[in-house]
Amino acid sequence: MKILLVGHGGREHAIALALARSRVHPELAAYMSSINPGIEELSSRIYNGSMQDVGSITSIAKGERVDLVVIGPEEPLMHGVIDQLLEAGIPAFGPTRALANLEGNKALLRKIISLAVPEANPIYRECVTRGQVCDTIHAVQNVAVKPVGLTGGKGVRVSGKQLSGEAEAEEYALEILVRDGKVLIEELLDGEEYSQMVFSDGVHLMPMPLAQDAKYAYEGDQGLMTGGMGSYTQADQLLPFVSESDRQKSFEILKKVIDAAQGEFGEAYHGVLYGQFMLTRSGPKLVETNARFGDPEAINVVSLLRTDPVDVFMGAATTLPDKIEFEPMASVCKYLVPEGYPETRPEPVSVQIAESVLEEEGTRLIYAGAERQRTGVVATGSRFAAVLAVRPTVEAAEEAVERTIHRLDLKGVRHRPDVATPALLKKRVEHMQRVMQGQ
Ligand code: AMP
Ligand code: GLY
Repeated sequence: MKILLVGHGGREHAIALALARSRVHPELAAYMSSINPGIEELSSRIYNGSMQDVGSITSIAKGERVDLVVIGPEEPLMHGVIDQLLEAGIPAFGPTRALANLEGNKALLRKIISLAVPEANPIYRECVTRGQVCDTIHAVQNVAVKPVGLTGGKGVRVSGKQLSGEAEAEEYALEILVRDGKVLIEELLDGEEYSQMVFSDGVHLMPMPLAQDAKYAYEGDQGLMTGGMGSYTQADQLLPFVSESDRQKSFEILKKVIDAAQGEFGEAYHGVLYGQFMLTRSGPKLVETNARFGDPEAINVVSLLRTDPVDVFMGAATTLPDKIEFEPMASVCKYLVPEGYPETRPEPVSVQIAESVLEEEGTRLIYAGAERQRTGVVATGSRFAAVLAVRPTVEAAEEAVERTIHRLDLKGVRHRPDVATPALLKKRVEHMQRVMQGQ
């Protein structure tokens, strides 16, 4: 069996590692826009190209006569790579262009939720005039202001964080309105965020363990938002502040969203749907959905797959197996990022990795913004690599990650030491308790 994997981040390296441990030992080809050394090592053929060049991806899949294409990032999905692959008769992991709009068009997502499961929406309005912007902000007061299209995690601003007061919210919303002709304004939700991802084959939906990532760049949730500095999952697949009943509600919400989107577009949703939820006083609300795995969350859940990963990925592209099982273990991963990230685009720095430390500690290094050069591995500017530990408890996994990072003693990169610590988890639980008590 031959599989083409598209993408070059930590998410895709974790997928490559999972596919490589399948009992069918698939041959891997990889299409990347920057050569991830971890994926390179696992692949028999490497292609270098743009994530928007879906014509090339399809030609390579045809030329290599692959049995399956796995798309990691959103960009090729938005450019219709799945539609092209399906036309060529090649099984592919990921939704069509129309269904990928669950990520690419936030106003469409809100409309679908309001039809299918309105209780999962915040109050919101897609504004197309200055009057609408001013009226909505005045009425709602505490708001989240967003461009309707993809923002790379950076276009959203919320009251109390990036926006202080009505005037600033209005100014930012009007800036987006002038640029895009529309802007989405939502009620600010109060609660704790978590991710529920599901595999879908268009008929069946299967949940993955819940994960929580740490979005802010620095300890104590300070600094700018990033793609995620690290994430954790528990052995029972829940989170310290999410009950089984809330998990089931989140799963049902995603099921209704997928059903409604499939009805709207008359197409089947294949691949993964990522639900970013906020657990609020009135239950789980959907903050956004993504048409791909979260990164770093994929590193946790894909590494925990007990069901053969090829059955899972091929299954989502065709028909899912009856059950998808995960190891009953906790996982913690923390990203190492270059000094200066994310405020600046740091210059590449060479990083010397002592592989023996990872072996001794029983931890893994998942490469992301990394390239191999003559002198060794280089951190290219964005998130460099994640350290992952799988253990019976979050506490043990967190300690193993910290010990590994300490012993690796890498120069030029830093991480968030508080991710998944008992103190941070306690803070999350206490925040949730205050929210539930309406304080
Ligand atoms: P998005 O790109 O829509 O996921 O937004 C990025 C981040 O902004 C989310 O993960 C939340 O932390 C925050 N955010 C977005 N919408 C809201 C909302 N309605 N209420 C509170 N926070 C929000
Ligand atoms: N970690 C959040 C995301 O991948 O969008």
